[in-house]
Amino acid sequence: MHRLLIKHARQVVTVCKNGETLLKGAAMNDVCVLNGPVSVVINCDGHIGYIGEDTEVSQKFEEKEFERIVDATDCCLIPGLVDGHTHPVFAGDRVHEFAMKLAGASYMDVHKAGGGIHFTVDHVHRATEDELLTNLKEILRRMLQAGTTLLEAKSGYGLDTENEIKMLKVLERAKKEGPVEISSTYCGAHAVPCGLTAAEATSDIINKQLPSLKSLLSSGELHVDNIDVFCEKGVFELADTEKILKAGKEIGLEINFHAEELNQLNSVELGVSLGARAASHLEEISDKGIEMMGASSTVGVVLPTTAYILKLKPPPVRKMIEHGCAVALGSDFNPNAFCLSMPLVMHLACVTFGMTMNEALVASTINAAASIGRSHSHGSLEVGKVADMLILDCPRWEHLIYQFGGHDHVIKHVIKKGRVV
Ligand code: NIG
Ligand code: FE
Repeated sequence: MHRLLIKHARQVVTVCKNGETLLKGAAMNDVCVLNGPVSVVINCDGHIGYIGEDTEVSQKFEEKEFERIVDATDCCLIPGLVDGHTHPVFAGDRVHEFAMKLAGASYMDVHKAGGGIHFTVDHVHRATEDELLTNLKEILRRMLQAGTTLLEAKSGYGLDTENEIKMLKVLERAKKEGPVEISSTYCGAHAVPCGLTAAEATSDIINKQLPSLKSLLSSGELHVDNIDVFCEKGVFELADTEKILKAGKEIGLEINFHAEELNQLNSVELGVSLGARAASHLEEISDKGIEMMGASSTVGVVLPTTAYILKLKPPPVRKMIEHGCAVALGSDFNPNAFCLSMPLVMHLACVTFGMTMNEALVASTINAAASIGRSHSHGSLEVGKVADMLILDCPRWEHLIYQFGGHDHVIKHVIKKGRVV
């Protein structure tokens, strides 16, 4: 028996064709598309078993061997989308700050006035684990509807041991419930807590938060993949960032951090030299940083919603691609940038960052999966990979990006691990 047969697809965008786990530079524009009619066989373990022309598949498999058959006539298939950067665990909203920003306040004006991240921290401190989980589940449900089947998700609105662990436990519970898969990131260094200096906060993270996290990781109570720091002038600057990232690495976390968003601190150079898996934002990345990133496997995760909402100069994505960088995309979903739709993020990436639609797709599939160490199993449609895919009701897959804000009409089915969800 097999779990699912998807037949008669007009286009199957496999993205990769030879098991590549990262597409760098010019290779990002080279997306593999199989023109139909094509069928996809999904095994009972939720992995892709076979992809081939309809005639070939009907010779090899009998329809009665399948638990379910989906007719994808006139539809296109693409991999499930991977969101490379989110802050989805929080309580409350910041709609009032949106009004302040529209009236001219900058992100740092709001932050320094005790709003921004601090406002959300207050709400998260007051919320129970169950309340945070209820909020998160609704967000994940909406993300899945918008095509996201795997995401990176951070803590970072706790800022002390108890509340950071509370957030990570919420992520852990959401992972167990599924179906969306999550790579968790500890982001205790998201802001300096009110009343502490950056040095005091750094010491709390290294001497209290990380040791507590380490024991929960060893007991198997938590599974956390990455460590993040908001490396920014007036937040955690370069020296503190280095100490925290190194301490995280020592307990087995991968470096995946906020770099060069508002001011150039040469944090990409630091990240690459520490072997970071990913660095996000990059509006202010230096030429040296681009060169080092291009020569490394550190993924540059760019976040069009943030640059858009804060009216920031876009990151130099074209230059990064020309220099061989691997670029990924993230929604940066958070109470400041309340957008959880990767199709809209891809659209913004094309229009505001000058990416091609192929590059935006690669950045939202295989490269975003690479930024969280999952590209051996996720991010492309190839035999043996997890069967996460979207069936799009449109004549060419690019409609998902072109029809901006219209993904609910374009995405006909989301398939997670071989099940229509
Ligand atoms: O990636 N820059 C820092 N962190 C988030 C914003 C989080 C917030 O404002 O709540 C970001 O944009
Ligand atoms: Fe962020």
